[in-house]
Amino acid sequence: MSTSPTTPATPALHGATHDAGSGRAAGKVALISGAAQGMGASHARMLAAAGASVLIGDLQEDTGTALAEEINAAEGRTAAAFTALDVTRLEDWTAAVGQCVRQFGKLDVLVNNAGIYTPGTVEEASVADWARTLDIDLTGTFLGMKAAVPELRKQPTSSIINVSSIAGLVGFKNRAAYSAAKWGVQGLTKTSALDFGEDGIRVNSIHPGSVETPLTAGLKRGFGQVPAGRAAQVEEISMLVLYLASDESRFVCGSSIAIDGGETAGNNLRQDA
Ligand SMILES: NC(=O)c1ccc[n+]([C@@H]2O[C@H](COP(=O)([O-])OP(=O)(O)OC[C@H]3O[C@@H](n4cnc5c(N)ncnc54)[C@H](O)[C@@H]3O)[C@@H](O)[C@H]2O)c1
Repeated sequence: MSTSPTTPATPALHGATHDAGSGRAAGKVALISGAAQGMGASHARMLAAAGASVLIGDLQEDTGTALAEEINAAEGRTAAAFTALDVTRLEDWTAAVGQCVRQFGKLDVLVNNAGIYTPGTVEEASVADWARTLDIDLTGTFLGMKAAVPELRKQPTSSIINVSSIAGLVGFKNRAAYSAAKWGVQGLTKTSALDFGEDGIRVNSIHPGSVETPLTAGLKRGFGQVPAGRAAQVEEISMLVLYLASDESRFVCGSSIAIDGGETAGNNLRQDA
């Protein structure tokens, strides 16, 4: 294959190894929003175990600080720290990015994970719930990227991982605001992949199906529509985040990756239906 003079050079791999365990994210610095509990906490643990340094951003200061201490004890190094972050406030994001640079020297990976879920159709959902959901789930993602891009651009390969949902791939009954916000995350992701690809920043969205977390603890749900027949464990989603954070995914950009046990593969009529 010939290479034109204008073809960008292939960036060198940084820290990517083929070890199954540690080292796959060695040397990476990641900022994860909403990482005090649930999926975000799992992403923080897994990235740190793979050699990254992680800044845990969340509203929940005590829980987030305790998680950072737990990770540091497990890793035997300062692998994690906590920062108070409300994703709807640009000044919090700016401070979080600044802390990454001061404490860990740079920023390679942004995981826009914080999110809330509100139920209701367009008719039932309150205007306040609509605004709050869009503010946290969509505007929070926009603000995170806005604050992080100038630092991410300084690295030869960097990665933004926007956590959407299957509600951002298909319609989702009785979740008007959540689905609108998560579809917005997908659109913002694809557009930003075009905008920042030339800067070496990969931007991808991930679309989990049902995952066992505090967010979903109270929900009544069946799994008949899921070919896998169950909800995911948080670690199963973190493995995708680790892949996207590492240089193993260096040619994955602008993708919307379903991780849903097959739930959105098609119409899964059951034999007894
Ligand atoms: N659990 C699921 O089945 C599922 C499925 C698809 C997508 N998701 C998405 O995955 C992400 C994580 O979900 P989860 O199930 O781990 O949720 P969770 O409720 O367990 O955790 C969310 C975290 O975000 C934090 N948070 C909330 N508002 C915030 C704000 N304004 N600023 C900063 N932090 C804030 C919370 O304090 C909490 O620690 C969310 O974006 C969610 O929409 C979840």
